[in-house]
Amino acid sequence: MRYGNMRELTLGLEVVLPDGRLWDGLRGLRKDNTGYDLKHLLIGAEGTLGIVTAAVLKLFPLPRHRVVAWIAVPNPSAGVRLLGRFSEVSGNRLTAFELMSQPLLELVLKHIPDSRDPLSAPAAWTVLVELSETGPDVSLVAQAEAILSAAMEAGDVTDAVLAATLSQAARLWALRESTNEAQRREGFSIKHDISVPIHRIPEFLARAETALRAWARDVRIVPYGHVGDGNLHYNLFLPSVASEAALDAATTEANRIVYELVAELDGSISAEHGIGQLKRQDLRRYSSGIEIELMEKIKRVFDPRGLMNPGKML
Ligand code: LAC
Ligand code: ZN
Repeated sequence: MRYGNMRELTLGLEVVLPDGRLWDGLRGLRKDNTGYDLKHLLIGAEGTLGIVTAAVLKLFPLPRHRVVAWIAVPNPSAGVRLLGRFSEVSGNRLTAFELMSQPLLELVLKHIPDSRDPLSAPAAWTVLVELSETGPDVSLVAQAEAILSAAMEAGDVTDAVLAATLSQAARLWALRESTNEAQRREGFSIKHDISVPIHRIPEFLARAETALRAWARDVRIVPYGHVGDGNLHYNLFLPSVASEAALDAATTEANRIVYELVAELDGSISAEHGIGQLKRQDLRRYSSGIEIELMEKIKRVFDPRGLMNPGKML
């Protein structure tokens, strides 16, 4: 959260174009309003317009102080309110704000050796928060404690631990960072990488669960994500689906349920992982006609012979 997405961190690009010419756009300017922003067209284009060969990135001083908290919240609404409290008090010291559901944490504890729950009782939802400071020590611990105790009084936090040492902080982050490995070890899941406006995350989670359970009662819903960015990884395990054909049909239906709701909530069907081959049809379905038309025209201007990363995105 503190540093922004890669798009915001990129000040300039050098790109090899499909006709072999080199575009040198490596000026590292913070402000530049000379015509269309080609750099932003190239970022996230998944190699379909050209090949990025160099970039100028924003740099920041290394943080000198960090505090990491592992926090139990009763529900996603409480998590979003907690994000508001941290944003208000900590400003850009708020470095990360990650939400994890209990089913996700159960998979980590089951599959990842030496992992253990930092809290004494399992929590329905857990938030990992990191604050960091590049200047002199402003007592991040006191700040985090004050926010957490106010949130506890309001009923938005039920339990929390603060990492007092770097190795404790690393152990908390390791739980979050092993979530994808843990899911892989559990088996196949239908994965979604969606975003909605942050205040609509609780509504998305509640309505998606109701709709999915009406369709498949035994679906295991494993949500987690970068709530500070409104971005959720919304993964589904379907224990009763046995054959590959049934899995394909189930994936199509699960995607339809999830993406229709995302569209209704003005969200995105691909918040951070892009389109690739997998979501080409979904891109067409959930973008407007104007968007697809302009994207296709842009593709033809850059790459009329369709040389760059064929079969991807469009
Ligand atoms: C993550 C990957 C899936 O957030 O984007 O763990
Ligand atoms: Zn992610």
